[in-house]
Amino acid sequence: MGSIASEYPTVDGIIDIRQSNGHHDMKSAILEGLAKNPRELPSVLIWDIKGLEIYDKLCQESAYYPRSCEIEILQRRCSDMAKTFPSSSILIELGCGNLQKTGAILGALQAQKKEVFYYALDISMESLRQGLRELSAGFSSSSAVHFAGLLGTYADCLRWVESIFDSVLTDNITFLWMGNSIANAEIEDARQMLKSFRQACRGRCSFIFGADACSDASRVLATYNDKPGNFRSLVENGMRGANLALGREVFSLEDWEIRVWFDQQSNMIRCSHISKRDLSLDIAGHPFFFSQGTEIKQLLSGKWSYDQILSMTQRAGFKVTDFWMSSESIYGFYRINSHNLRIM
Ligand SMILES: C[S@@+](CC[C@H](N)C(=O)[O-])C[C@H]1O[C@@H](n2cnc3c(N)ncnc32)[C@H](O)[C@@H]1O
Repeated sequence: MGSIASEYPTVDGIIDIRQSNGHHDMKSAILEGLAKNPRELPSVLIWDIKGLEIYDKLCQESAYYPRSCEIEILQRRCSDMAKTFPSSSILIELGCGNLQKTGAILGALQAQKKEVFYYALDISMESLRQGLRELSAGFSSSSAVHFAGLLGTYADCLRWVESIFDSVLTDNITFLWMGNSIANAEIEDARQMLKSFRQACRGRCSFIFGADACSDASRVLATYNDKPGNFRSLVENGMRGANLALGREVFSLEDWEIRVWFDQQSNMIRCSHISKRDLSLDIAGHPFFFSQGTEIKQLLSGKWSYDQILSMTQRAGFKVTDFWMSSESIYGFYRINSHNLRIM
């Protein structure tokens, strides 16, 4: 198996797999979301370079347990995780962020002399370039670990995987998804996403993902209502991102407040913008009225139990084959394989 030949433009080892027409498509997605009931803004608007900076600050807070739990599990169990990989494979990291945790897994694969063609996917070119430069520097003398970046969204990645699949001489593809990102969606949408990746890989792939399972409402709420206010700033960045995509300041941030609440029926943190007064806004040529107290959904963060994950992944066509929990059992890494995958 070699690295994947591709007709996509490549700069500095980063393959541009974007299909969408940037701002135009985002405007349509914003209008579509605001026409829904309840209204919503696409969560992807949060994740520009400013959003990533705020997220990094949040991760540095000691109370932000998802980060410390993931690091703890990786430190204790990355060698066990690496044992579940075949001798040669493709590893695609979805929404890789600053790539600071990835080295642990790649290092464990290298120590076990397993060859890996690693692809880091994210939507920020700047952050991908910097993260990949720093990560690959630690493997400069390795002949087993090969690096590339993928610039695009999850949807772009699906299309890319579909397009390259027949030229890849392996069906050993694992998707790595950390930071509880799998749960930044309703559980049904996460199921659909897993199923779409399975289908793009002709039914044969695996995932390793990190997922938050904390059921202690007061701890969860304290974490997301952090004192420095980084989480609220992150949510607010979604509205700022909408203004950038719309090309002008349509939403005045002082007209909106952030609401964060824990929905214990679905085990989800739900974050919305709430209008402080009646507002009539022209959004890309369309009139919108938001009465005082109107909610616009922006971000979700699931705190899914093992049973919820088991059922959701099963319905997506996967089997949980391994899981590694944090010492407090509030966070886990799961390995799931699609049913007809055989690891040799
Ligand atoms: C919660 S952060 C997690 C970052 C990293 N995986 C970690 O564990 O630290 C979510 C990451 O997913 C990326 N992301 C969000 N939505 C995305 C999408 N639709 N397509 C690709 N990447 C996305 C963001 O840019 C961000 O880097």
